Amino acid sequence: MSNLLDLAPVVPVVVLDDAESAVPLARALVAGGLPVIEVTLRTPAALDAIRRIAAEVPEAVVGAGTVRSPGDVEAAAGAGARFLVSPGTTPGLLAAMLAAGVPFLPGVATATEAMTLAERGVRELKFFPAEPAGGVAYLKSLSGPLPDVRFCPTGGITPSNAPAYLALPNVGCVGGSWLTPRSLVAAGDFARIEKLASEAAALRP
Ligand code: 3PG
Repeated sequence: MSNLLDLAPVVPVVVLDDAESAVPLARALVAGGLPVIEVTLRTPAALDAIRRIAAEVPEAVVGAGTVRSPGDVEAAAGAGARFLVSPGTTPGLLAAMLAAGVPFLPGVATATEAMTLAERGVRELKFFPAEPAGGVAYLKSLSGPLPDVRFCPTGGITPSNAPAYLALPNVGCVGGSWLTPRSLVAAGDFARIEKLASEAAALRP
């Protein structure tokens, strides 16, 4: 697979309460033009959801988010996750992600954290929580001294602020939960989710 950050401008960050929703949700996102889907490990349904999407929606690139421990890495990879995303990065988690053999976006929020990962050869990172941690201005400031590191900012991204992030040279894509509100997923309104996805797919300036 080409670089994770370059597959789609927006990565939907999904919280799934019911694994039954996983396949229609993934199909709606793919139909809207967003094939990369991050299913967060925040619900008991998450691993089953990843398993179902991996098996039944081959056009989707499904990964696991909210990966916080080596156990999460093992469970996500076992379920078929094609990439891993973490909110922050500990030495133990980094070792497990490096060993997993799938692409991963470890979370960072400072220059020191980004440099620590670059030192290990990891140069595609999640910038989290993007808006509270400094937003567009902060990432722009990092692009000068750290030109070889690229980010997927996530946390507080909206259709309004996404274009400014996507215009930065060190941003490959953004992540966000606005495309898949739990209420729409629970109501089975996948047509509305497809529309939100197609609007998001057009956000790159
Ligand atoms: C998360 O991990 O919850 C993501 O960063 C999504 O953040 P958002 O809900 O602000 O889009």
